[in-house]
Amino acid sequence: MIDQETIQRIMDATRIEEVIGEFVSMKRRGTNFVGCCPFHNEKTPSFSVSPAKGIYKCFGCGESGTAVSFLMKHEHYTYPEALRWLAKKYNIAVVEEELSDEQKERNSERDALFHVSEFAQKYFASLLYEDEMGSAVGLGYFHSRGLSDSVIKAFGLGYCLDQWDAFTRYARSNGYSDNVLQKTGLTIFKDDGKQYDRFRARVMFPIYSVSGRVLGFSGRILSKEKQAAKYVNSPDSEIFSKSHILYGLFQAKNAITRQDKCYLVEGNIDVISMFQSGVENTVASCGTSLTIEQVRLIRRYTKNVTVLYDGDAAGIKAAFRAVNMLFEEGLHVRVVLFPDGEDPDSYAQKYGSTQLQQYLKENESNFILFKTKVLAQDIKGDPIRKAEVLGDIVRTIALVPDLMERTEYVTQCASLLRIPEETLQNELAKTLNRKLYDSLNHKSDPGDKDLAESGAQGAESGERGAESGERKAESGGRKAESGALGAETVVPFTLNPAQSQERKIVSLLLNYGSETLDFEAKDNDGRPFIEKYTVAQVVVGELLDDQITFEDPVCQLIFNEYAKRINDGESTVNPQVFVTGGDERVRETAIAMMMTDYHVSDKWKDKLIHVPLPQERLHSDVEESLMTLKLKKLDIKIDEIDRQFAYLADNDEKLMLMAEKMRLVKLRQQLGTALYRVFS
Ligand code: CTP
Ligand code: MN
Repeated sequence: MIDQETIQRIMDATRIEEVIGEFVSMKRRGTNFVGCCPFHNEKTPSFSVSPAKGIYKCFGCGESGTAVSFLMKHEHYTYPEALRWLAKKYNIAVVEEELSDEQKERNSERDALFHVSEFAQKYFASLLYEDEMGSAVGLGYFHSRGLSDSVIKAFGLGYCLDQWDAFTRYARSNGYSDNVLQKTGLTIFKDDGKQYDRFRARVMFPIYSVSGRVLGFSGRILSKEKQAAKYVNSPDSEIFSKSHILYGLFQAKNAITRQDKCYLVEGNIDVISMFQSGVENTVASCGTSLTIEQVRLIRRYTKNVTVLYDGDAAGIKAAFRAVNMLFEEGLHVRVVLFPDGEDPDSYAQKYGSTQLQQYLKENESNFILFKTKVLAQDIKGDPIRKAEVLGDIVRTIALVPDLMERTEYVTQCASLLRIPEETLQNELAKTLNRKLYDSLNHKSDPGDKDLAESGAQGAESGERGAESGERKAESGGRKAESGALGAETVVPFTLNPAQSQERKIVSLLLNYGSETLDFEAKDNDGRPFIEKYTVAQVVVGELLDDQITFEDPVCQLIFNEYAKRINDGESTVNPQVFVTGGDERVRETAIAMMMTDYHVSDKWKDKLIHVPLPQERLHSDVEESLMTLKLKKLDIKIDEIDRQFAYLADNDEKLMLMAEKMRLVKLRQQLGTALYRVFS
C-alpha cells in the first residue's frame, strides 16, 4: 500500500509532457505538445498533450487520460505500478504503509497460496505428458477435442488423477501445509479426518491473473455421469475471486490491444478453440455472468467488445442483462450469433479456422439492433409484452453515451418495433431525464442500484449447479426494472444549472459567433503580438478540447453541426442554417435564442439592468460562460465519482478514482480562481 501523502507528492511532481515524452516524440505547439499517437497507427500527428491540464488526448482515435492512465494503458501497468514508476522517475521515496503483524501474516499467507497454486498447475500439466493415465485419459481427452499440444501448453492445461488424494499426498510430501491446501480448495477436508482432491478425475484449466500467475482452477468432468457437475471451480480465496477474473485474458491481452477489440465467449474451451483458430483476442467470464469488475478489466485494453452467443434463445435473452453493463461502462458492443446448436468451439472444430474467422466477420452486428430484432419476435401482437420490450430497449439505448448514436438507434429501433419514432423518443427522453435527475439529486437508492447492477451475480457466485437452473437465477435479479416506464410518477423536470449554461453558450455562438476576439500571444523571440480568433473558434475549440458534451439534446445537435463546420475550416457559421434546417426542435430553439437576450452576465441580471452586450464585454462574457459551463460539468463529474466510490470494493479502483477526483478538484479550484478574475 502506498500512502495518500506519497500519492499526492507523486501527483504534484508529475509533468505529463515529461512522462509521455519518454515514449512519444513530441513537438511544442502553442501551449500544448503534439506527436504521433502511440495507440493507433498514424503518419500525421493528432496526439496532443496539455501540460496545463495534465491530460493527453488523441484527436484521431479518441484515446485520452492522465499521466497515470497513460502508463497503465501504454505499459499495461496496474495503478500502483504506474505510481511506483513515477516515484522512481521523480526520485520520490515511496512510503509503503507500515504493515501490521496481522497484515504481514496475511501477505505471507497470500504468497503461500500463490505458491501452492503454481505448484499444482505444474503438477497437473506434467501428468499429461509424464504419467501413463494422465496421458491416456487427460491428454487423450484434449486431443479428442481437437486441441493441439501447443495450445495445451499455452493455456497450461492438465489432468488430476482419478484417485482420492494423489495430489494432496504429493503436495504434502513437498512441504505444503494443510492450511494452504484447504484455503485454495485444492483439497477438501472432511469432518471424519479424511481428505480428498477436489478435482480428482477432471481435466484442469488453470485460471491466470493478467500477469500470468496461477490463481485457481476450473476442472471438467470426463465421464458422462449426470449427477456430478460438468465443471468444478476453485472456491474464492484470498487470491482467487471469480468475479474479478476473465478466463484467457493473460493469453489474450496483447492481441486485444493490437486489434483494439475483444471477443467475449461463454466457456473455457471456446476461448482455447478460438485462440487455436487464430482469434487470440478472446476471453470468457469464468462460469459467472459478467460482472462490472470484469467489464472494467476489458476496458483497460479496449473499448470494443463483441459478444458471441450460441443460438439458443433462452440463453440469448438471459445474456442481454449482462450486456447492459458493457454499455454503462461506455464500451462499444457488437454481437455475433452462432447457428443453432453450435458454440464457438464446436463451430471452429467443425469448419476450421478460415471459415470461423470469415463467419465472425460476416455475422457481426450492432448489439442494440440485434436485441431489438430478437425481442420483437416475441411480441406477437401482445400489447403488454410490447410495452415491456419497448421499456427494455429504451433502457439500453439510454446507456449509450453518444447523442447522435442514440438518435440513430431511435430511428432504427422504432422501425423494427413498428412504433412511431416519437413514442420511442419520448420514452427515451423520460428515461434520460429521470437518470439525470437521479444523478443530480443523489436519488439513486443504493439498494436499488445493487439489485439492478449486481443482483444477478449474487445468486451466482456459487458454483454453477444444474445448468438450466442457472439462467433462471439471472432473470430474477432485475425485477425492479420491468415496468420502470410504466405508470409511476414522472419526475418533474426543469433545466438544471448546467443546462441553462449550455443554452447560454449556444446562444453566444448563434448571436456572436462571427465576432473576433483579441488574444495576446508571443512569437518565437518572445515578442508579444495580437492573434485574432472568432468567438466561434474559441468556443468550439475549448469545448472540444475538454470533451464537454451537452445534456440538452437540442443544444448538442446545434453544437455538433456548428463544430463540424468550424473544424472544416470555416471561421464562423451563419446562424441561418439552423433557422432553415430540417429538425424542428433545432429550428425552434435557434430562433428562440436569436430572439431572446441570453447574453447578459448573471451579475447584471441580478441587478435587473438590461444592457445590450457591449463589444468590450464580449471577451469576458465568452470566457465567463465557458468557464462556468466547465465548472458545472466538473461538479457533476465530481459528484458522480463520490457516488461511484460507495460501490467499489477494489482498492486499486478506489485509489484511481480518488486520484481522478483530486485532479478534478484541483481543476475546479483553478477554474474558480480564473473565473473570479474575469468576474471582478
Ligand atoms: N460452467 C460452470 N459450471 C457448470 C457448467 C458450466 O462453471 N456446471 C462454466 C464453465 O466455465 C464453462 C462455461 O460455464 O466453460 C460454459 O458452459 P458450457 O457451455 O456448458 O460448457 P462448454 O464451455 O461448452 O464446455 P464443453 O464444450 O466442454 O462442454
Ligand atoms: Mn462447448
